[in-house]
Amino acid sequence: MASPSAFSRLNLLLPKPSLFAANFRRTQFHFFPTLSSRTISSSSSSSSSSSSSLTCSSYSNSSMKELQNPTPKRDNHFVVLGIETSCDDTAAAVVRSNGEILSQVVSSQADLLTKYGGVAPKMAEEAHSQVIDQVVQEALDNAYMTEKDLTAVAVTIGPGLSLCLRVLPWNAQQFFLHYAVGVQKARQIAGSFKLPIIGIHHMEAHALVARLTEKDLQFPFIALLISGGHNLLILARDLGQYVQLGTTIDDAIGEAYDKTAKWLGLDLRRSGGPAIEELAKEGNAKSVSFSVPMKQHKDCNFSYAGLKTQVRLAIESKKMYDMGYGLFCSDANIPISSASKEDRLARADIAAAFQRIAVLHLEERCERAIQWALKMEPSIRHLIISGGVASNHYVRSRLDMVVKKNGLQLVCPPPRLCTDNGVMVAWTGIEHFRMGRYDPPPPAEEPENFVYDLRPRWPLGEEYAEGRSDARSIRRARLHPSLTSIIQASSQQ
Ligand code: KG4
Ligand code: ZN
Repeated sequence: MASPSAFSRLNLLLPKPSLFAANFRRTQFHFFPTLSSRTISSSSSSSSSSSSSLTCSSYSNSSMKELQNPTPKRDNHFVVLGIETSCDDTAAAVVRSNGEILSQVVSSQADLLTKYGGVAPKMAEEAHSQVIDQVVQEALDNAYMTEKDLTAVAVTIGPGLSLCLRVLPWNAQQFFLHYAVGVQKARQIAGSFKLPIIGIHHMEAHALVARLTEKDLQFPFIALLISGGHNLLILARDLGQYVQLGTTIDDAIGEAYDKTAKWLGLDLRRSGGPAIEELAKEGNAKSVSFSVPMKQHKDCNFSYAGLKTQVRLAIESKKMYDMGYGLFCSDANIPISSASKEDRLARADIAAAFQRIAVLHLEERCERAIQWALKMEPSIRHLIISGGVASNHYVRSRLDMVVKKNGLQLVCPPPRLCTDNGVMVAWTGIEHFRMGRYDPPPPAEEPENFVYDLRPRWPLGEEYAEGRSDARSIRRARLHPSLTSIIQASSQQ
């Protein structure tokens, strides 16, 4: 494993940035040293064997008026293109450094999700490859810009889905191919137009997008980041300075939502979370009893694997014992749309009970995290929630109560900025670019066997020492130095 200092030494071998150095460069910060990773063949961006149809939806910013007269490139505000291909969606956005969202485009793999109940990494890579050019072009067109108007390109380079990495650690890179689609596109643009490039930590982007929507959000703050692949509680002391208060020891909450939705036969086109949220409104959350995970562990870590098992057993027991509801289905044999009234109600009860306990687990961990974080940083005023699951209204209202009870304020980005998007990547790029943290433009023609720096196992920050838990054994193999330690090392140079 490369230590942060070895990492920094390697950086010295790379060429200096040739652009913007006078205006923006304070610390030179390389996100793309050739430390690890895989080789991408030049054919990967053109692979299009899958017949899946992909829906493209684009969102335009409210302040479109200004776009009639786009300001020239070198005004006070700079403009960053953000590219995101780390999960199921292919997303790109153009954002101005004053926080103005000039365009946002998301192409979803909803059809693949519905058809297969999840997306395998190879399938995801193909789907991303099919639409990446179109998504980026649409983001530029909607912003009334060309690549020449950009100041820099930001792209997500890690971390991967914790589940994939846990299950198949020996060839984790294979589960990371879809990241490479975005990175390849970002490097092509940056290379051709001599633009600096910024490598982005996906979870940092989920957190920092809250500073775009809430202009008063100053460091330090607490962030609960809840998505399909990650469950993180962090103390954000400053830009790039994070302390990890808790993480999941197995599955993330979004994964539990998705599996529960699948087992209940729900429509997965908008992913499992929104389907459970809807159905839960019809159910009685107290009618099925599930136990709250990790009660005996007085820390801020999470676990959702056990709750998933409880849900599966509850569904199976309903099926076996018939419970007076008629035949109850598991494994989506009968879709909810064809279920009888009683069957629907039984499923709604499970959805509501699952959601209540899943969120109670978040509430308990947040309560403790607030106490820990305030000990380190008494000036904290905000707790932010972000990531796909944070778009859930029940989650928001329950956490709002916890946060208010502790004298803090809850900040939630709007739902379309909570789920994966290019805006959060562009904005995080803007935040780091301002501090001079970026890589120089790559060469216009990259060698075919060029090795990209992708980071499947990349912590945001170091673990809070007092919060270490026996329940979590950290596998250190191929663990990348944390973002915080890299930034600290580079600023000490
Ligand atoms: O952040 P995200 O878009 O992608 C990842 O980084 O994983 O999060 C996706 C997750 C999925 O598991 C999805 O089911 C969940 O967020 N999600 C929700 C809701 N909307 C999306 N979960 C609960 N309620 C929602 N309304
Ligand atoms: Zn995400």
